[in-house]
Amino acid sequence: MFDVILYQPQIPPNTGNIIRLCANTGVGLHLIKPLGFSLEDKQLVRAGLDYHEFATLSVYDNWTECAARFTTHRMFAVSTRNSRHYDRVTYTKGDAFVFGPETSGLPTALLESFSEERRIRLPMLPESRSLNLSNAVAVVVYEAWRQMSFENGR
Ligand SMILES: C[S@@+](CC[C@H](N)C(=O)[O-])C[C@H]1O[C@@H](n2cnc3c(N)ncnc32)[C@H](O)[C@@H]1O
Repeated sequence: MFDVILYQPQIPPNTGNIIRLCANTGVGLHLIKPLGFSLEDKQLVRAGLDYHEFATLSVYDNWTECAARFTTHRMFAVSTRNSRHYDRVTYTKGDAFVFGPETSGLPTALLESFSEERRIRLPMLPESRSLNLSNAVAVVVYEAWRQMSFENGR
């Protein structure tokens, strides 16, 4: 129903948690290289559990290759540097959400290639810097799925 795109993720347990999240919600997961780990990394496999069995996982060499796969989808950039709150958007099936790497977030040029209405953020207290990547993904995925009345969920 939805897709999550991780741009150059760095920390194995984060991606492992996201693999597990996607497997449990029926969301496709897409990883853009370079990755900060091997897909066989023990921490990733442990956090992702039986991901080979349950998750749909694709890996791309670069952003261009991934974006080409989503030309018919709406893509949303998720960043602390956006102003529109994630719950102010009406999501539709096929929407894809792009998240940045843990240390630096999405590159400015990539972020600015999205129109203002396709850029969302999760509110935080004023002094806060950012949420953990896997938590941010979970909040957005569950809001989008909630809007679909948790279709196919139980
Ligand atoms: C640890 S954060 C990156 C921190 C980086 N300094 C930044 O501000 O983007 C990793 C990713 O999680 C997502 N993220 C974390 N907190 C967020 C928030 N409050 N709003 C939107 N995205 C958030 C973004 O996709 C971000 O690139």
